Amino acid sequence: MAIVYNIAEASHAEEEIAPEFKEILSSLPTEKGWRTPNLYLFQGFWCQPKEIQAIISVQNHYKAKDSDVIVATIPKSGTTWLKALCFAIVNREKFDYQKNHPLLTSNPHELVLFLEYKLYANNQIPDLSTLPTPRLFATHMPLGALPESVRESDSKVVYLCRNPFDTFVSIWHYLCKIRPESLGPLSLEEAFDMYCRGVIGYGPYWDHMLGYWRESIEKPHKVLFLKYEEMKEDTTLYMKKLAEFLGFPFSLEEEKYGVIEEISKLCSFEHLKELEVNKKGKGAIAHFENKNLFRKGEVGDWVNYFSPSMVERLTNIMEEKLAGSGLSFKLF
Ligand code: A3P
Repeated sequence: MAIVYNIAEASHAEEEIAPEFKEILSSLPTEKGWRTPNLYLFQGFWCQPKEIQAIISVQNHYKAKDSDVIVATIPKSGTTWLKALCFAIVNREKFDYQKNHPLLTSNPHELVLFLEYKLYANNQIPDLSTLPTPRLFATHMPLGALPESVRESDSKVVYLCRNPFDTFVSIWHYLCKIRPESLGPLSLEEAFDMYCRGVIGYGPYWDHMLGYWRESIEKPHKVLFLKYEEMKEDTTLYMKKLAEFLGFPFSLEEEKYGVIEEISKLCSFEHLKELEVNKKGKGAIAHFENKNLFRKGEVGDWVNYFSPSMVERLTNIMEEKLAGSGLSFKLF
């Protein structure tokens, strides 16, 4: 039973923005964008124009239920993987992993929809009342931008963080593939400078991760903070933590019969990447090809791109920004 949505996708052309939002945009600080001509500093984070419109709509209209789960990430930190895992964990009694599992024929982004890119894009207000419980949604919004109802309800947030070195390389590759030709190429050096100045969608990334990190320490029942590198190293352990947090813990019997391994395999990079829907499909994210969502899926690929001066610059930034927070990353 896959959920069928009839939802328009956000496009990102500035000319499609409603006049009242154009007025908002004209009052915001701007910088050159990565895949749109401009990024705008909105509520303290950098955003593409259409996203601002959608985010305002999410903030005004989305009412979180106590049982809702929000998958939160900064782009390219493993969103696709976390969506797949959450979907597979909470729905594990409904499907056969070999035969009718929706992840075999749908990209994870079609099963766990973004609030701002899909559900509330283009000024639409979706009817979410008929969705099965728990409703799974996703967002790239920083914690502080989430609607009041998320903070006030017992809804849960799962945040996946990735080391900023690999995240940068992943973003650069992805955006080079989907960037309109009219904007011309974006060199690694220029992109890195933007990244280090915090000018990246939903960034600065250090504010993004610290917001969720601090909340996860203060309210561990509300926010589960996961790290991509740790998940890669011990997927089973973190799947157990995730399942428990979501309120769907694995039973001893499930552990004995290898259910965790089965889900882990189903959602693995190697498996998802080879599925027809992810090799040839389109449109899980905007009109882009799904195959772009699967590149290497490794920890430490950044060594192939970073010069010594880049390593020094990003290391210094991370040390300064994360100082005293207790948050750290594995780079390999
Ligand atoms: P790389 O570009 O380093 O390969 P997002 O899903 O947030 O867009 O993040 C994309 C990154 O996650 C890409 O990293 C992609 O290859 C990797 N990825 C996609 N699916 C994955 C999976 N099932 N397991 C681990 N990594 C995955």
